[in-house]
Amino acid sequence: MQTQYMRTPVLSNVAVLTSGGDAPGMNAAIRAVVRSGAAHGIETIGIRRGYAGLCQGELTALSARGVGNILQRGGTCLETSRHQDMKTPEGRQKAIATLKRNGIEGLVIIGGDGTLHGAAALARDCPVPIMCVPSTIDNDVYGTDYTIGFDTAVNTAVSAIDRIRDTAESLPRLFFIEVMGREHGFLALEVAIACGADDVLIPEVHRNIDVLCKTLTDSFRRGKISPLVVVAEGEAPGGAVEIASEVKARLGIDYRVCVLGFIQRGGPPTARDRVLASKLGAAAVEALMEGRAGYLAGEVKGEIVFTPLDEAASKNKPLDSSKVQLASMLAI
Ligand code: F6P
Repeated sequence: MQTQYMRTPVLSNVAVLTSGGDAPGMNAAIRAVVRSGAAHGIETIGIRRGYAGLCQGELTALSARGVGNILQRGGTCLETSRHQDMKTPEGRQKAIATLKRNGIEGLVIIGGDGTLHGAAALARDCPVPIMCVPSTIDNDVYGTDYTIGFDTAVNTAVSAIDRIRDTAESLPRLFFIEVMGREHGFLALEVAIACGADDVLIPEVHRNIDVLCKTLTDSFRRGKISPLVVVAEGEAPGGAVEIASEVKARLGIDYRVCVLGFIQRGGPPTARDRVLASKLGAAAVEALMEGRAGYLAGEVKGEIVFTPLDEAASKNKPLDSSKVQLASMLAI
């Protein structure tokens, strides 16, 4: 028979913050940190407004009850900021001073790629152990198959595109849909497969306009009346608007552009994002209890994996090239 036991807490408290672009599921991760900590007798302190609040000492107590009813909400109840202070020694010293002054024994940082770089720099100087939890709609974090928020953003974009299809087929038109993703095409590629796009333009597989025009001409020749192209915002300066007008200049075809924009960042997280956030938030606290410091808690092939922050921040996550081929093969 397995013995049930509660681990002896080596920590009396942890702090948690969210940083960078908010993503659906950040609240679920905060809740997981607070409640997994509470299950082990650890108190949680929230830091408001990301690294800005860390430098300025904006702390707030978080209780297990107090994080009730946030699991299903998008955004982040702790608020966030795009703060550059972790790039400077002075900024990092301010952050460390806040942690020391308040007797913080462990810090969980929830955010995406930029946040991770800040956390890796802070962890090099900081005596307080740090764990990161990956959360961004961009999915561009090394050390985890999926980031918290990605699945929700994909589903939001796909349901918007399903609606666009109705009008695109009724009043037949070529559509260009721009999705977020900063310099990466993870979101665009996933969305393109899920909505059956005729083509997808992503920074990782840059293609010139002539190739796109040929794909579209072939689509029309095969009888398609309303081809749809998904464009990653980071693919080209000017994005989908610019690409669409270049296509019109060559093919003379009428078109419409829809930039999905910030709609992709909001809304209730999907069940998948809630579960991922719950697992990774709890894993980060348990790792701190076990004495780990300076790691990203990710999920790879269904298993929790801890990657050193320097490695996670310095390596680029590869795009799955088989998905690029799949998108193209199924677009005939
Ligand atoms: O990193 C998440 C993200 O939504 C990117 O996809 C996008 O390029 C960027 O944030 C937008 O940043 P901001 O919210 O600062 O305008």
